[in-house]
Amino acid sequence: MTAKNDVDKIIYSYTSSTNVLEEENRLLRETTEQLKEELDKFKRVPLMAATVKEIVNDEALIQIPNGNEFMVSIAANIKGIKAGDSVLVEQKNLTIVRKIPQSKKFAVESFVIMDKPTISWKDIGGLNEQIKEIQEVVELPLRKPELFEAVGITPPKGILLHGPPGTGKTLLAKAVATATNSTFIEIVASELVQKFIGEGAKLVKEVFQLAREKAPAIIFIDELDALAAKRIEIGTSGEREVQRTFMQFLAEIDGFKSLGNVKVIAATNRKDILDPAIIRPGRLDRLIHVPNPNEEGRKQIFKIHTSRMSLDKDLNIDSIVKKMENFSGAEIKAVCTEAGYFAIREERVKVHKKDFLDAIVKVKREEELEGTDYMNMFV
Ligand SMILES: Nc1ncnc2c1ncn2[C@@H]1O[C@H](COP(=O)(O)OP(=O)(O)O)[C@@H](O)[C@H]1O
Ligand SMILES: [Mg+2]
Repeated sequence: MTAKNDVDKIIYSYTSSTNVLEEENRLLRETTEQLKEELDKFKRVPLMAATVKEIVNDEALIQIPNGNEFMVSIAANIKGIKAGDSVLVEQKNLTIVRKIPQSKKFAVESFVIMDKPTISWKDIGGLNEQIKEIQEVVELPLRKPELFEAVGITPPKGILLHGPPGTGKTLLAKAVATATNSTFIEIVASELVQKFIGEGAKLVKEVFQLAREKAPAIIFIDELDALAAKRIEIGTSGEREVQRTFMQFLAEIDGFKSLGNVKVIAATNRKDILDPAIIRPGRLDRLIHVPNPNEEGRKQIFKIHTSRMSLDKDLNIDSIVKKMENFSGAEIKAVCTEAGYFAIREERVKVHKKDFLDAIVKVKREEELEGTDYMNMFV
């Protein structure tokens, strides 16, 4: 009796451990499956994005990001492909395997900054000559094209503002837009080049299209040097891509009329490295230098940025401005804001001379920490 009981016990314990092991085995098998699937994903070759140029019978002429064009076939399950569509293609034989839905397609509006600025000429200090010139060559032609037609001269299609950072180039461009009630469309050339690989040329086209729709419009291209630098040799596909974007930009400028209601304003602090093609007659052929302000300019800028601050009534503006030699407009603004903070920290509402002096030291130190920008020293 006891013997049988023992055997039963032993059999029972074996069966249960077999069950446990079987369960474990199942789990392990499942995990291996999952990992295999995951591994397959890693092995899969990525699809390449391309643009359809033309449909010929049941084949398509596509352009891949490096600019080359190919005649390829379209997978049987894909319907309704037309010229201009963005598609995904196999890397090996470039067969079109998927259409990128329109909504996922990159929209020009999501990339450019577009608005109606409110900056006025009065908000800009120390740049009276530059303002006068811009009023003549950009504002007046936009407002009174008939005047130029009557006299028989053609104003520039665009201008190039050059000078160190923080001196008011963006402000000037915005102020023209305000003065002419134009839409202000801003693109940053370095972003255009880095973020939208393969899309740059198309984007440039779309920006000009957008400007024509929203005209009168000012297209402001910041950091132009990222797009229009002199290239000694065009080696990598990245460089070719920038070159194509640049070419498109030139083509767009060449394509519009001087007396139309779209103007291009570009800005750079590296005029020295620009490709001269961009400043040829009929393009951005008016160069306007925007330097760091002189003493009178610094005073004007200081007054603009303190106009809404409550200052100690004995404050001597001249003696403060003298201490800001070589400061840019942006740095003068930073001094005013910092001075306000120093007052707040001491629970005062009036801003004193000492606050400004402390702020000047702080802004100077921050600039030194960032290191001298040798690149911009000679511009
Ligand atoms: N000449 C100026 N007059 C008034 N404020 C200025 C001036 N220059 C720069 N600033 C201040 O610095 C900020 C940055 O200037 P910004 O026009 O962007 O410089 P840039 O485009 O030349 O780098 C402006 O928003 C403004 O507050
Ligand atoms: Mg700027």
